Amino acid sequence: MNEFDLIVIGSGPGGYIGAIRAAQLGLKTAVVEKEKTFGGTCLNIGCIPSKALLDSSEYYSMAAHKDFEKHGLEFSGLKLNLKAMMKRKEKVVEELTNGIAYLFKKNKITSLRGFGKLLSENEVSVLTEKGEEQKISAKNIVLATGSVPNELPFMPFDGKFVISSTEALSLEKVPEKMVVVGAGAIGLELGSVWMRLGSDVTVLEYQNKIAGVMDGGMSKRLLQSLKKQGMKFVLQAKVKGADAQSRKVFYELNGEEQELEADVVLVATGRKPYSEGLGLEKLGIQKNDRGFVVVDEHWRTSIPHIYAIGDLIPGPMLAHKAEEEGVAVAEIIAGKPGHVNYKTVPSVIYTWPELASVGKTEEELKAEGIPYNIGQFPFSANGRAKALGFTEGQAKILAHKETDQILGVHILGPRASDILAEAVVGMEFFASSEDIARSFHAHPTLPEVIREAALAVENRARQM
Ligand code: NAI
Repeated sequence: MNEFDLIVIGSGPGGYIGAIRAAQLGLKTAVVEKEKTFGGTCLNIGCIPSKALLDSSEYYSMAAHKDFEKHGLEFSGLKLNLKAMMKRKEKVVEELTNGIAYLFKKNKITSLRGFGKLLSENEVSVLTEKGEEQKISAKNIVLATGSVPNELPFMPFDGKFVISSTEALSLEKVPEKMVVVGAGAIGLELGSVWMRLGSDVTVLEYQNKIAGVMDGGMSKRLLQSLKKQGMKFVLQAKVKGADAQSRKVFYELNGEEQELEADVVLVATGRKPYSEGLGLEKLGIQKNDRGFVVVDEHWRTSIPHIYAIGDLIPGPMLAHKAEEEGVAVAEIIAGKPGHVNYKTVPSVIYTWPELASVGKTEEELKAEGIPYNIGQFPFSANGRAKALGFTEGQAKILAHKETDQILGVHILGPRASDILAEAVVGMEFFASSEDIARSFHAHPTLPEVIREAALAVENRARQM
């Protein structure tokens, strides 16, 4: 007899949201978490603390660059109190992780602290730090153990000179020189934080573009913008190694050996699924050649009542993608038709300006031979952006040439992450660009750029 209907291993966005949905649907649910706090990477050492630091550092940078003087606000004696900034970040994290503990209680979810390991098809062992073991059983198990930073074999993390995003969120002083390896979301966001706080930041990127999978045109604009702010970039750089003693990073560019001085090197070259010690091998649960757990279209592993979601399985490694999978699996277990629409997974890089995207890029549409129209609109012509003093960037809508269905939306600009939500909902409802163009948008607001971009698909945009 199983004690639970469902055991979820891991309490990140995939695990905790899935567990809550399961409990809401009447399933007797337990969550196993190895860390002291709930919330996984996203809440503890990822999305949330990085956003707290991005917001704090943005205010600092605005003050340091005298942006407030344009508003008639003059002050002197600006001082950075990094300790206080970090404390605030920790408070933001603490409040949110405590919030999960509250939600578990409210939804009558049993939470167990300890390392979860599959013992059999229905049994999980929970091993506490003190070495005490508890065995629990369930009809269904969801693996939601997430991912960890990728280590470069030739320059392993030492936590001091060669660091991962985890340490980059808690540096005790602003490094004079920081080298970032990898111009993806982590490199650009955390590079921005330390650049704004005064670091001389150089990003070494293997490809000839930044922001990997993002729309090419938008990625170019973001590169220009970050360069203007003082971030340095070396594209097509092949990083070879680092030496903590001489404080140097070595790389190859156009066949020539180069080196850079650094106080700290942030390696942000991707993350890998975390399934160490989970007991997959013993049960014959399949992984692919990159270590991701193989699942079918209902997130079932090779053992049908053991599911896997989030960063542990192939697909974008994003909190909101994991959340949706967690919900879908809970619904499937409860006998409902759980579903995730992977065509509308939004993607955001929280730099300044932010880069937010959903659907196809121009490169993808061209490669797939899909005919499309483009509508674009700059923030410099948006009334609210002008009032705020943030006029950099633009919105771009890609709509099917014949049907006008929106295929992709890309926004580079202030709070692009928030503005994108409308595009995601629109695409979920198969909106045409005309649908957006004919919908009310309060005036003056930043989301009006989307409406104007939609109007621009038919050359009907207006200046504001
Ligand atoms: P990423 O995969 O987004 O970017 C890594 C970058 O490093 C790529 O541009 C790649 O070409 C480059 N790279 C790889 N090896 C290299 C080498 N040896 N030398 C130089 N460049 C190299 O990975 P990132 O930024 O570490 O993020 C990990 C995951 O976390 C991603 O899936 C990302 O989407 C997710 N994430 C999402 C955030 C968001 O949604 N805002 C924030 C932070 C992370």
